Amino acid sequence: MEERYIYLDHHATTPADPRVVEAMMPYFTQHFGNPASLAHRYGWIAKEAVESARRKVAALIGARPAEIVFTSGATESNNLALQGAADAFGTPGHIITTAVEHACVLGACRALERRGWSVTVLPVDRFGMVDPRSVLGAIRPETRIVSVMTANNEVGTLQPVEEIGRLCDERGVLFHTDATQSAGRLAVHVEALRAGLLSFSAHKMYGPKGIGALYVRSRRPRVGIGPMLHGAGHEHGLRSGTLNVPAIVGFGVAAELAGKGMAEEAERLSSLRDELQRRLTALEGTSVNGHPERRLPNNLSITVEGVTAERLITAMGNVAASAGAACLTEETDGRRLSHVLAALGLTEERIAGTVRFGLGRGTTVEEITEAAERFTAAVRQLRTLSLEHAV
Ligand SMILES: Cc1ncc(COP(=O)(O)O)c(C=O)c1O
Repeated sequence: MEERYIYLDHHATTPADPRVVEAMMPYFTQHFGNPASLAHRYGWIAKEAVESARRKVAALIGARPAEIVFTSGATESNNLALQGAADAFGTPGHIITTAVEHACVLGACRALERRGWSVTVLPVDRFGMVDPRSVLGAIRPETRIVSVMTANNEVGTLQPVEEIGRLCDERGVLFHTDATQSAGRLAVHVEALRAGLLSFSAHKMYGPKGIGALYVRSRRPRVGIGPMLHGAGHEHGLRSGTLNVPAIVGFGVAAELAGKGMAEEAERLSSLRDELQRRLTALEGTSVNGHPERRLPNNLSITVEGVTAERLITAMGNVAASAGAACLTEETDGRRLSHVLAALGLTEERIAGTVRFGLGRGTTVEEITEAAERFTAAVRQLRTLSLEHAV
């Protein structure tokens, strides 16, 4: 019999919901038209499907459909947001971000630096939280953009984005937020955030991979951005290229499903997560990373003394968790260390001993119980082995 696998890595990606896949299928075969082919029925059907999905994706974040630009995912959305906004500003300015952003935001900031922008990377506290006062203190007359994520993908900490958005708005600074980990999991509303730009991705909310969106505010005031991909002018001229209709349809359904029963699901996940946390921290030499309360409901980042996360994950066998994050940076002695955990002040050894669990829609109590048992057994086994090795 095939061994049952327990998937606890929903920050990396989520399985596509069968309803999403079912909705996508006709757009590969029967309704394969190009939504830009407006001379015939094939194009009209595809166009209507795209616009219907756009309405659903917009509704998830309280935006107008015309404010949604479809991209290939949050990496592209973040790059388009920051580099596109910089293009629209024309002359180089100053951008503020944080040390715990995803690599694609930090990478886009480095690209701006090469174009003459100055970049301030704000530190975070030991819980991974940025202080709005430090954002305020960093704003200068030439500050054009502030980019702070809604929720961290490694330790789950929720940033005070509403307050930061307000501070930026009051000072006429464009606020961008990477909402990839919270859109579809927690309520995200562009007006409450006072965001001018907001990035998110379908595959983190049970939609297909390779499709995402950038919200670009259309009024009070309208946000101007330039394109990164030049061509025939699709997506209001901001992202040329034939639209990926099946994926867009899937994103629409995923967004609609995520919006329904979101609060109940968040509640269910946080109680399962608390149970997992209770069981894992019963082991001595363990500690939880991220904010104790202001954290994604499905996140558990745990540091285990005396083991490395990679060996621990291998020893757990059928439990899919992650060592830090799916994307790690900074090489030290051949090891790749998480810049997020480093920003929280963890030592190299503690970073190497950190495992990230991400619960999801399919996670059950039975899975949590089994994963906790596997974890405990694996830690004991590895600690015994290292003791034997030491003598
Ligand atoms: C916070 C955050 N931003 C951006 C991304 C990149 O998203 P995508 O895989 O859609 O490019 C991720 C994915 O891990 C993420 O967690």
